[in-house]
Amino acid sequence: MLDGKEGYAVRKSMEILTALGDIYGADRLIKVGSVQVAGVSYHNLGDAGLEFLNELAKDGRVKVLTTLNPAGMDLENWRSLGISEDFAVKQNLVIEAFERMGILVSCTCTPYLIGNLPRFGEHLAWSESSAVTFANSVIGARTNREGGPSALAAAFVGMTPRYGLHLDENRVPNVHVKVNTALGKLSDWGALGYVIGKKAENKIPYITGIAEASLDELKSFCASVVTYGAQPLFYMEGITPAAQSQAVPRESVSVDEADIKNAYDNINDQVTDIELVCVGCPHCSIKEISEIADLLKGKQVAEGTEFWVATSRTAKQLADKRGYTQVIEAAGGKFACDTCMAVAPLKGRFKSLATTSAKGCFYSRQNKMLTKMGGLRECVDAAVTGKWT
Ligand code: F3S
Repeated sequence: MLDGKEGYAVRKSMEILTALGDIYGADRLIKVGSVQVAGVSYHNLGDAGLEFLNELAKDGRVKVLTTLNPAGMDLENWRSLGISEDFAVKQNLVIEAFERMGILVSCTCTPYLIGNLPRFGEHLAWSESSAVTFANSVIGARTNREGGPSALAAAFVGMTPRYGLHLDENRVPNVHVKVNTALGKLSDWGALGYVIGKKAENKIPYITGIAEASLDELKSFCASVVTYGAQPLFYMEGITPAAQSQAVPRESVSVDEADIKNAYDNINDQVTDIELVCVGCPHCSIKEISEIADLLKGKQVAEGTEFWVATSRTAKQLADKRGYTQVIEAAGGKFACDTCMAVAPLKGRFKSLATTSAKGCFYSRQNKMLTKMGGLRECVDAAVTGKWT
């Protein structure tokens, strides 16, 4: 492969993979079951990134199931989300390059909800921190937090270097996190991720004290704990599958009600007028969309405020069938399929954001927005009144 016998893309990929393997002391390459590629938005890639992809797409074809992270726009309804024609042309060229490589244009950060669902113990090469954390922790699969190029390289070769979180010894939890407070609304899980991410620093947390967690709550927690912390892996006693095979670490920290309140205080800015409400970070599941439709039914989004539901196109298609889409759109809400608030070119368009997501707040602040985080009900209220109360 390194000699170029399998073409340019495979040679380049092997160069990337062997360099990574050398740096991290991998003994060999291992097969991966699937790949999730991030770095899809033209907003982040620019012309240099597009050129790189076009080069690879000349002869690069993926060898395993490969799905894509969100792009910079809704690939169908980009106009209604205020995306410029120039941006759309470039974004479509990026998508075409990925399509030529044989990648599924799924454009979601929840690939596990739309058919790229690994099994326990399976080796993967995924990028997208929230999905990597979900795969490692909630599913018990094994992946490092790949960058866009290393994930693509693994897709062309079908393998990844065996190091980091592929190895048992690097998956041992080393801080016990005792959660001594009850959690309620969805955003509490983002707040918990904020607290644990910061308290665990670069250690792998073993979390106790949580009696129940839904899939939506776990995906929200995954996004937050890795955004505010370092490790894309945690164990949650009684909830995640590998927790029972790990010993509880001796070092411990606790999370109390005051920590959760402090997280909200840190994530929330002083702002009342809300210009954008965006839910779906990570992308909304069909269950979340149904809850949004219930909350919005018969109401109207305030003038001067936009309400976006970020989700995969697959989930939206189910929402169409159940009539949720019609309810949300009749109320003035918009679907933002294939994209999200962090990778769409939103800088300068909105001054304030309300969301359920702690990760969404982190990235929106980088886009110079003032942020408010709350549950689905509070976000829908903000959309309907234009205010955060
Ligand atoms: Fe997904 Fe974008 Fe949030 S990629 S996790 S919706 S920042």
